Amino acid sequence: MGASVVVENVRKAWSATSEAGEGAVSEALAGVSFSLEPGDFVALLGPSGCGKSTLLNLLGALDRPTSGRILVDGHDLALLSDAGRDLYRRRTAATVFQFFNLLPTMTSLENVALPLLLDDVPPAEADERAAAALGEVGLPEKAGAFPWQLSGGQMQRVAVARALVVRPALLLADEPTGNLDSRSGARVLDLVSDLVAGRGVTIVLATHSNEAAARATRVLRLRDGLLEA
Ligand SMILES: Nc1ncnc2c1ncn2[C@@H]1O[C@H](COP(=O)(O)OP(=O)(O)O)[C@@H](O)[C@H]1O
Ligand SMILES: [Mg+2]
Repeated sequence: MGASVVVENVRKAWSATSEAGEGAVSEALAGVSFSLEPGDFVALLGPSGCGKSTLLNLLGALDRPTSGRILVDGHDLALLSDAGRDLYRRRTAATVFQFFNLLPTMTSLENVALPLLLDDVPPAEADERAAAALGEVGLPEKAGAFPWQLSGGQMQRVAVARALVVRPALLLADEPTGNLDSRSGARVLDLVSDLVAGRGVTIVLATHSNEAAARATRVLRLRDGLLEA
């Protein structure tokens, strides 16, 4: 089941670069509000630097807003304890990144099983679920392969399996096809739209790709840290 998400007037400021002058503050997000129903599939569009990754990192509780609130299934992410935030990152929100972020010394199976092992799932069960997830993304025969033995498209499918294996309620995808040729990208988008959306998972997909946006059920456009109407 997907998560409901409420984002209320969220701002994120970074302290100044020297270029901007001492004491200046730049706002990556300048007051963003929207809500998502369980199962919404949102494409987050906007030019480079508009705040897409910043917003995804806040939704994933990898970072905190400067002000404003984010509620996931009614829980304010800012009020989670450290342990609660760990559980949220492990069980509720899963992220797929542009550059895959697979661990290079681990096989596909080990990469996919890792989030389960970190969550104290018994190793035999973790391996079984990881193997099933690799089957779902069409890579059962790559279980023993290391990332360097895979193409970019295959690495991203392993990363999708790693996100799915925890049965997340919220999938955050940060330009997941940005580093892939169009055919591999389309395959990854098929998985996200059929496999992930088919389970009612709430999806926020940051992208520059019109093809990716076309699969979404909603589009949010960011410009200079604000949502366009
Ligand atoms: N860790 C950071 N420290 C300082 N500034 C940052 C940091 N992360 C992002 N920014 C700035 O915030 C703005 C939005 O960046 P980002 O969210 O990465 O945009 P996008 O993902 O849409 O390309 C940019 O101006 C960027 O330089
Ligand atoms: Mg980005």
